[in-house]
Amino acid sequence: MTSDLEGFAPSAGARPPRARLDSDAPALDLDGTWRFRYLPEVPADHDGFADPGLDDSGWDEFPVPSHWQLHGYGAPAYTNVHYPFPVDPPFVPDENPTGEYRRTFDLPPDWPEGGAVLRFDGADSFLRVWLNGTELGFSTGSRLVAEFDAGHLLRPGRNVLAARVHQWSAASYLEDQDMWWLSGLFRGVTLQHRPAEGIEDLTVVAGYDHTTGTGTLRVDTPGSAPVRIDLPELGLHGAATGTVHEVGPVEPWSAESPRLYAAEAASAGERVRLRIGFRSVAVENGRLMANGRPLLLRGVNRHEWHPDHGRAVPPETMRADVLAMKQHNVDAVRTSHYPPHPSFLDLCDELGLWVVDECDLETHGFEAVEWRDNPSDDPRWREAYLDRIRRTVARDRNHPSVIMWSLGNEAGRGENLRAMADWVHEHDPTRPVHYEGDPDSSYVDVYSRMYAPHAEVEEIGRCGEPATEDPSADAHRRGLPFVLCEYAHAMGAGPGGLAEYQRLFERYPRLAGGFVWEWFDHGIRRREDDGTEWFAYGGDFGEVLHDGSFVADGLVLPDRAPSPGLTALAATFAPVRVEVDAGAGVVRAENLRTFADTSDLAVHWEAAEEGVVLERGTLPVPVLAPGERSETELPQVRGAAVGQVWMTVSVRAARDLPWAEEGHEVAWGQGLLTEAEPGPEPAAHHPVTEGRHVRLGPGVFDARTGRLLEVAGLGAEGVRLGVWRAPTDNDEGTHGFPLAPFWRAVGLDRMVERRRSVEAGHEALQLRTRLAPAARDLGLEVSYRWSAAGSTLWLDLEARAVGEWPCPLPRVGLDLALPGFLDTVEWFGRGPGEAFRDMDQGVRVGRFTDTVAGLQTPYLRPQENGVRLGTRWLELRGADGAGLRIRDGGGAGEGFAFTARRWDDHALDAARHPHELAAEDRLHLRLDADHHGSGSASCGPGVLPEHQLTPGTHRLRVGFSRLPG
Ligand code: GAL
Repeated sequence: MTSDLEGFAPSAGARPPRARLDSDAPALDLDGTWRFRYLPEVPADHDGFADPGLDDSGWDEFPVPSHWQLHGYGAPAYTNVHYPFPVDPPFVPDENPTGEYRRTFDLPPDWPEGGAVLRFDGADSFLRVWLNGTELGFSTGSRLVAEFDAGHLLRPGRNVLAARVHQWSAASYLEDQDMWWLSGLFRGVTLQHRPAEGIEDLTVVAGYDHTTGTGTLRVDTPGSAPVRIDLPELGLHGAATGTVHEVGPVEPWSAESPRLYAAEAASAGERVRLRIGFRSVAVENGRLMANGRPLLLRGVNRHEWHPDHGRAVPPETMRADVLAMKQHNVDAVRTSHYPPHPSFLDLCDELGLWVVDECDLETHGFEAVEWRDNPSDDPRWREAYLDRIRRTVARDRNHPSVIMWSLGNEAGRGENLRAMADWVHEHDPTRPVHYEGDPDSSYVDVYSRMYAPHAEVEEIGRCGEPATEDPSADAHRRGLPFVLCEYAHAMGAGPGGLAEYQRLFERYPRLAGGFVWEWFDHGIRRREDDGTEWFAYGGDFGEVLHDGSFVADGLVLPDRAPSPGLTALAATFAPVRVEVDAGAGVVRAENLRTFADTSDLAVHWEAAEEGVVLERGTLPVPVLAPGERSETELPQVRGAAVGQVWMTVSVRAARDLPWAEEGHEVAWGQGLLTEAEPGPEPAAHHPVTEGRHVRLGPGVFDARTGRLLEVAGLGAEGVRLGVWRAPTDNDEGTHGFPLAPFWRAVGLDRMVERRRSVEAGHEALQLRTRLAPAARDLGLEVSYRWSAAGSTLWLDLEARAVGEWPCPLPRVGLDLALPGFLDTVEWFGRGPGEAFRDMDQGVRVGRFTDTVAGLQTPYLRPQENGVRLGTRWLELRGADGAGLRIRDGGGAGEGFAFTARRWDDHALDAARHPHELAAEDRLHLRLDADHHGSGSASCGPGVLPEHQLTPGTHRLRVGFSRLPG
């Protein structure tokens, strides 16, 4: 045990925090290959590890930045809330994995005399540093910068740097974020020269006065020699010592138009490049304002994540992430739950995202002990709390993208949090303070909640949230804007209910929008011996205590493929609302942006019959100012000859934008223009009994059971009503409303069918059954009425729920298994992706083609997925083109929903990872009349009443016919 490791002091020997400056002072990048030794426990202090002369040639070579658990030392472990060690603050277990790092570096011959700073951008969780055998100090705060003075110890030529990092420390109690526990030097290490008369620190406050359109600039350089500031574009050349410069008219910075001005600050010894964004942020009249206009944040929570590198995210990945956010209409990020790598904020400045920069703080694990000894309210931890927020603000305050400071996440209540807020208010009055755990908002500037259901958000929107015992606190809180710092938990399939939240945000000015939880699935990439790739979640590394797949709750799968939820989010956050009103013959468009007009966008239209384009063109929608609407006449297109003609209006980038290529779609709308009259009914066939079979058009049935055996020459198995789906994470509702346990208790996963009657009449073959679970007296009365006309076999399926149902149904439809050679799937319906009825805003009517494998969404924990909605017709083909066509007969409203898989729902339900699903030589097809929505009850509200599948009478009419090869 060492006392620092289990002490309350956050650091010793570290320099005071300061801004990260793009300086011309010489610097050495110390990333790369280090020597590394892994110890399962904390070693004795004086074992010579840091001696320059130590022979470390036998040590492993090891990359910095990285986490040692992802390089074969120890193992990753995932917990959401619980500490993976006893709650015994500030003590940690003896078993405390420790990484010893050493590297030599040669100081270039022209390295100047004088001071130097060693900077560690991130070390998880306790770092102690030695240079040339002399200890520089220690630091905690895993996602915060630590700098040490090093100039006095540098030697010409070869130098030896040594760092010891411990996995656990007292500071671990402050870092209980819901994520993998991963250790080591996971961000960069740099040596920077500090010139005499250099710029020690520099803060920029670049304001914007929306009433005059002018900017002000104040640059402070505490502790530095005189500094000049030059901003040539605005003709500014002056002293940077607290003077407020009036810079005249400027283009303000916003997430929509991230205008940056290049500037330079220079002292006698150093030059620093700056990118300045002029903007103002304020809470005024209960609204969150930027540049004088109310903000509606269309945000996501972002943890740092990479499936191979953990939180050591490569720069190109960071850029790809910001681009993906912009391309999906996200305009805000909460850096849950720690300051991100500084380059991420550079990208937000450059490409335009509003940022809530969160301090590296969470003590959620104290909840398990009823918050006893929570550091947030213990004066011994006060300095550590203040240290964390000071370092957050000091590093990031010059970023125009940062519009709010967040004190941390789920750290309970206490005076140390208030002290952090007070410190921010004193040292950076230009930004509001956020912390979700201050229910009265007594020391923060916005009212914040997570996962509040729609109805409650609406109440808050109306300032009608329930009163507490303190009327003055209520009045204060009701005067503040509201932010949902987390909502729409994107775990597994889903989330549903996004559109309904967005409508509330748009309706009530108090609601400033929010941040969907969360951007990534934090899966860790693994490979089987045969090369099969899969992604691990909690428990996959043998953790004693873990929270399973709760770590996989992102809009982006670990390989960074957008999930269907992200498609729904992009549609929800679309900056232009498009409505195709075929009846009125117009397209309505509304610019939903706050600051920017639509001159960067072009509006295209396309009329397609059964998904085949008839005509296309551009629509003369005028450039719309923020909030402006327009109505444009729809072009005339010829009517339908064979099916439906749909008009799709697509709003796209008119030119290459910094974050998207020309043609990138930001919004779309659709309307049905015309529909061909159905042709004359072909002649009906009659059931013909031949021995043990009944033949009916292209169908062959078992005469005794009434079961379909063959359709259009293809064997069919297991043809019956289905109500089960492999519960989604939202159905399981572990941290919300658990519905799946009801389904299992009722027995929906083990329904049995009892034949009541089979009648081969003149017109049809009619099978009546009762589908019900063992041990229950509820069930469904099912009628399968088979008829045939022309080359089509028609099924009229009706299912009527009987008995007392305590829960909604997962789905209602037809299950069947077809021969495995069918692999190409083409459909005219909604797509191209998966959707649920409460997240269908991202799927449009069209003609799509895929393979069976391509239809699956590989959620980390297998569950219901791949549902395609609104299907008018569906064709399944083998390699020779022959197969089966299934068309909607109108019974289920706007088409049926289908899934097609190589396994059934039970196998899907039982698997723990997608690669465990064994493909059968059969195609399991489901044709659904309807299904229960998705909701976001994995950590939030369930399915809204209008999207629940209430037991009642459900109908499906589908026709089957042969597709020749
Ligand atoms: C919140 C928490 C997040 C995450 C989420 C569930 O309570 O702030 O860190 O745990 O729930 O995924």
